[in-house]
Amino acid sequence: MISKEKINEIKQAVNIVDVIGETISLTKAGRNFLGLCPFHGEKTPSFNVVEDKQFFHCFGCGKSGDVFKFIEEYRGISFSDSVQVVAEKAGIELEQQAVVQRERQVHPHQVLFDIHAEAEKFYHALLMTTKMGAEARQYLHQRGLTDEVIKHFQLGLAPQEQNYLYRHLSGKFSEQDLLASGLFNPADNNLIYDAFQGRIMFPLTDEHGRVLAFSGRIWQQKDSENKQIAKYKNSRSTAIFNKSYELYHLDKAKASIKKSREVYLMEGFMDVIAAHRAGIDNAVASMGTALTREHVHHLAKFCKKVILTYDGDAAGQAATAKALEELQAFQVEIISLPENLDPDEFLARNSEELLHQVLTNSRISDVEFLIQYLKPENPDNLQMQIDFVDQIAPIIAKNKSITAQNSYIYKVADVLPDFDYGQVEAAVNHLRVNERQARSQMISSSQPPLTTFGAELPRQARLSRLVRAENHLFYRMVTHLYILNDYRLREDFAFFTPELQVLFELLKEHGEVTAYDLAQQTEQVQRAWYQVLEEKLPEEVGENELEELERRRHQEQLKRENQQKSRVIREQVHVGNTEAALDELAQLIAQKRKME
Ligand code: UTP
Ligand code: MN
Repeated sequence: MISKEKINEIKQAVNIVDVIGETISLTKAGRNFLGLCPFHGEKTPSFNVVEDKQFFHCFGCGKSGDVFKFIEEYRGISFSDSVQVVAEKAGIELEQQAVVQRERQVHPHQVLFDIHAEAEKFYHALLMTTKMGAEARQYLHQRGLTDEVIKHFQLGLAPQEQNYLYRHLSGKFSEQDLLASGLFNPADNNLIYDAFQGRIMFPLTDEHGRVLAFSGRIWQQKDSENKQIAKYKNSRSTAIFNKSYELYHLDKAKASIKKSREVYLMEGFMDVIAAHRAGIDNAVASMGTALTREHVHHLAKFCKKVILTYDGDAAGQAATAKALEELQAFQVEIISLPENLDPDEFLARNSEELLHQVLTNSRISDVEFLIQYLKPENPDNLQMQIDFVDQIAPIIAKNKSITAQNSYIYKVADVLPDFDYGQVEAAVNHLRVNERQARSQMISSSQPPLTTFGAELPRQARLSRLVRAENHLFYRMVTHLYILNDYRLREDFAFFTPELQVLFELLKEHGEVTAYDLAQQTEQVQRAWYQVLEEKLPEEVGENELEELERRRHQEQLKRENQQKSRVIREQVHVGNTEAALDELAQLIAQKRKME
């Protein structure tokens, strides 16, 4: 294992200007060096190398980092390989063995990833190259999947045998590790069986593309006829697989989610595959569970807009309504496919172009969906109509656009025989006033809001100014690596909010806060992390945004110190120690003057 000290030593032994200068022509510009950025095409140089702080930063594409990062990115190699490269340049010996060991220790459960990687290869090869695979592949072809698609999703086949995979892996891994992988079950007779038999295998990956589990679907006629057998079966939970957090296809969807700033959330694996066939890659699915809060926080890392694309049947509609509750912090649109179809079934009956079109153009807003979903089953029942108006009016009043509110009011009046526009509007109006009051109260007072409607206010409003400023700053570090790197270099910097400081340490170490790291933290730290994720900020960092945050942080800190001092002064006066009180007061006044 390469120790932190060793890595430091290597870094100290080279000058980043020389290392980068080997590949890019740099010219001195003031205290820095300037060149053409190797990471994006440019004609005017915006690539800076800062010698005294030993890092690079491109103002064009935002890439930044230290000498290791540069080598990593420039050569497309791993961190440990880049340490090797730099060590060589510095003439520092590194034992090969040490590097290998370090790689293996990157994750405490690396061996479980290794087992899954092997299993994925094995299952895929069985599907693609064997006789028994040919039949299963036939099933997939019938469902419209080409070999290319099968390969893209690395689908595989678990044969109808008791321990085919076990026999393949038992020589390579310990029994203990194999059992911990969730891919095998021990039986009473001391034998170990494959957990998946006779199923088409869907590898489930984390957002980095590492396989953590599988889902297997039955495909043979005899199984489909047997009602006892579940259509899909997932790996059980293991040290690396938490199905309430992971989302199918997120690794491959990630780039396109970030680009389009939205994600399709679907019910099934086959639906995500259908979307891919129709040219849409920013689709993910939960794995046979309803959308959880953990899923939502996971998604929040990538975008703030979800397009719910659940099945058109009653269960799908109910799931949509439930997901809407979880997705309050997101912008949400809904796609209801015709005739209760799911995207895969739709594609079985229509062209890829048509599915693409429907997924892109046939969206309705969350309020429109709820009007359809909540409207009375029996429209002639007056009580049902009244209940419906009571339910929908607050939802409409929450909408910020009055124009949108008006069109929703029309839609509601449209489905209710005993209400006209004016009556529905009256119900909404009544609530509009309340909403406005609540909103203006929130803005005008820095006091905690009244508890009577506190529950309905966004959580942000209840945070102190200091925490808000620090959340904002931390969010920027998460989303903009160069900002993180700037702060990384400031040795005197620390968050005042202890939870954020813990997260900051994690972020500095790994460049991200992984689910794994987070799981080890206290409840408060986890909550702080999610609070940060809930920040709604424009992607672009404002010109003076960071300075302003610094200023606010500083001021709030001083204010706290001053409050502390005032308290001391009052206490001193109280016990008759006027002289000391005056001393303190003089300091306090000087301090306040500085703040003005
Ligand atoms: P569906 O029943 O809608 O399946 O379940 P589907 O997506 O249409 O699948 P195909 O088209 O028949 O192959 C949606 C999701 O629910 C989970 C799976 O994750 C599936 O993708 N599920 C379903 C299970 O976990 N177990 C089951 O027995 C069925
Ligand atoms: Mn389906």
